[in-house]
Amino acid sequence: MNIIDIINKTKNKNELSENEINWLVKSYTEGEIPDYQMSAWLMAVRLNGFTERETLFLTLAMRDSGDILDLNSIDGVTVDKHSTGGVGDKTSLVIAPVVASCGAYVPKMSGRGLGHTGGTIDKLESISGYRTELAFSEFIDIVGRTGFSIISQSGNLCPADKKIYSLRNATGTTDSLPLICASIMSKKLALNADCILLDVKYGSGAFMKTPEEARKLADLMQNIGEKSGKKCRAVVTDMNNPLGNNIGNALEIKEVIEILQGKCRNKLYELCMELSANMLSLAGMGSYEKCRETAENAISSGKALETFRETVKLHGGDSRICDDVSLLPTARYSYEVRAVHDMKIESIDSQEIGMVSLILGAGRFAQNDSIDMTAGIVMNCTAGDSVSVDDTIMTLYSTKISDFSEASFRAVNALKFYRI
Ligand code: URA
Repeated sequence: MNIIDIINKTKNKNELSENEINWLVKSYTEGEIPDYQMSAWLMAVRLNGFTERETLFLTLAMRDSGDILDLNSIDGVTVDKHSTGGVGDKTSLVIAPVVASCGAYVPKMSGRGLGHTGGTIDKLESISGYRTELAFSEFIDIVGRTGFSIISQSGNLCPADKKIYSLRNATGTTDSLPLICASIMSKKLALNADCILLDVKYGSGAFMKTPEEARKLADLMQNIGEKSGKKCRAVVTDMNNPLGNNIGNALEIKEVIEILQGKCRNKLYELCMELSANMLSLAGMGSYEKCRETAENAISSGKALETFRETVKLHGGDSRICDDVSLLPTARYSYEVRAVHDMKIESIDSQEIGMVSLILGAGRFAQNDSIDMTAGIVMNCTAGDSVSVDDTIMTLYSTKISDFSEASFRAVNALKFYRI
């Protein structure tokens, strides 16, 4: 076998065999194929596509490039969830305690933010003392005790994806359905939960711009998950508005707690209930409707908040935030963006709002940048709302910058509105 034949086969739209794909992934991961040849092959896949059979073999080869977690010591059904990324996406932080408090187990590895989207791990690190890097044994112990734990991706999970993903980022080959599918699903399969819920987003700020494109990716990922022996379901959800009112690390934890306290019933709450019900029904806990009721009860009874509190405590975090969100870090500076006319907000460019949050210090431009846990945005409006002159549309927060001119200019331009 050799790489030139493999590049030519994909270039000429001839299907690769399982053996060829296994050889390609193994040889690239071990450094036997140089980046320039792998880049040529990735571009051939990006331009010509890949069959579902090839995508399955690629996913499995990437999964098998490293460790596969052994979750057998967890005495119950394990459920994992993946969201394809968004602005203000804190759903995992609500869903994991809800689902855990209803009897399923959620062992979760999450990532850090890069660019306009935030990362669950950065958000958790805004809680004083919260440890996101745990030994596997402690991770499993916490999942067994409270029902969920969220830690940063660690260990030797999918080293092939690490290499291929960074090469895709540098070669214009990120926007390929089979490559996205193999990248996401290989990591989910290596984590090895019994059930996987996939939340595929469309709209501004998402990889997929239309519901149709998102459905295609969702169907592909669900098929690959099922063919790999998992119970798998994919839902398609809207990312045309930032998710919830708050964007930025500590601000998002505050909103999570307010939802878990039952004080906040916004669109984010609705989405979290939809995703929780899907996870619970996938885990065999009844029909979607019954599971939706169970999830809502977990919030209204306070059970989900207690589960969150216990997990935060076991991770070394300050669990007093569950009763008093003012203990979360707060920004030194703030700036209110106000309406200059009576107006109707037609749409919000989520990606641009994510960029504003980044400028305020809530995210990273480059992998090793430090972040300002207090920075971010509180939105007071959503697409479709009418606002009156002088109403505060959103408030910007930062400890890193006190000059809000660029951020506020871009924040206003992220809104499409007309005067009323
Ligand atoms: N997330 C991933 O992990 N991989 C992709 O290719 C896209 C999103």
